[in-house]
Formats: sequence, C-alpha cells, structure tokens
Amino acid sequence: PAGHEPRPRVVLVGPMGAGKTTVAALLAQRWGATVRDTDSDIVTAQGREISDIFVDDGEAAFRALEREAVARALAEHDGVLSLGGGAVLDAGTRELLAEHTVVFLQVGLGDAVKRVGLGTSRPLLMGNVRARVKALLDERTPVYASVATHTVDTDGRTPDEVADAIEALL
Ligand code: S3P
Repeated sequence: PAGHEPRPRVVLVGPMGAGKTTVAALLAQRWGATVRDTDSDIVTAQGREISDIFVDDGEAAFRALEREAVARALAEHDGVLSLGGGAVLDAGTRELLAEHTVVFLQVGLGDAVKRVGLGTSRPLLMGNVRARVKALLDERTPVYASVATHTVDTDGRTPDEVADAIEALL
C-alpha cells in the first residue's frame, strides 16, 4: 500500500519487558508485513504452554526447541520476527542470527519491571521480580549486544516511539 516502503526483514531481541511483541506488531502493521513469534510457534507446535515446557522438560530442552523454531522462522518468514527473551543464550541460535538484521530492544530495570507487571500491591513478590529481572538484565545485556546490528533504547518510550527509532536506523 502507499506509504509502505519495503523494509528488510528484522529480528527483535531483548529481555522480557522490552516490548518485543508489541513493537513487532506495530512495525508489521506499519510495513504491511506479518509477525512471526517463536514463543507462539513453540506453543502451537507443542500444544503446551511455555511454562509447562520449562517445568516438564527443563530450560535446556526449551532452548533446543527454540533454536529449531528460530531456524524455521528465519527460513520461512520475511516479515518481522520476535524472539523469546532467552533465545540468544543458546550458541546455536546466536549463530543462526549472524547474517541478519537484529535489533536489540534495550530496557532498564524500572521500565522492565513495570511492563512485566505484577503490580505494586505485593511487595514481596515485587521484590523478587525486581531481583530476578535485575539478574537477567545484568547477565544477558552483553549477549544481546553481541548479536545485535542495532540497539534501540526503549526506556520511557511508547511502542510507537520505539518503532520510529527502529525505522530511523534501517
Ligand atoms: C524467556 C522469555 C519469554 C519466553 C520464556 C523464557 C526468557 O519470552 O521465551 O518464558 O528466558 O527470557 P518473552 O521475552 O517474549 O517474554
């Protein structure tokens, strides 16, 4: 449609709460493209929720399923691709990303916790979520940075503003 310039296929990576799913949907809408989301692909293929796969089979098994899902999505899809927050922890998945345009949606602790949710009404749980999110951000930020061709700061920005920033980079 008019106003839709052709865009390269883009892969969004970043932690939970970075806005990958929301921004992917927005970019796809702007570009007249479609979104592929590896978490959804895995849930559909397995017929179970991700939390059940983690509990029943363990995280390593999930990362292997995720690597296959990323490989398939890269082979089959040219729109916007959104990966689960932990996908880049797998060396095989990182290798798959090497030739692609990868945008790291960066987020600080405050915004990540706010977006992940769980509210402020449970101080104990909130404290745990905050501590967990902090540990994940500290551990993973260098890994996202290592696979990214571009990095966009999402703190204090709406999904529209993040999508604008991505468009300005590509
Ligand atoms: C995970 C992030 C989730 C999902 C799974 C593990 C992670 O995806 O893949 O719960 O390790 O960060 P989102 O980043 O879309 O929440």
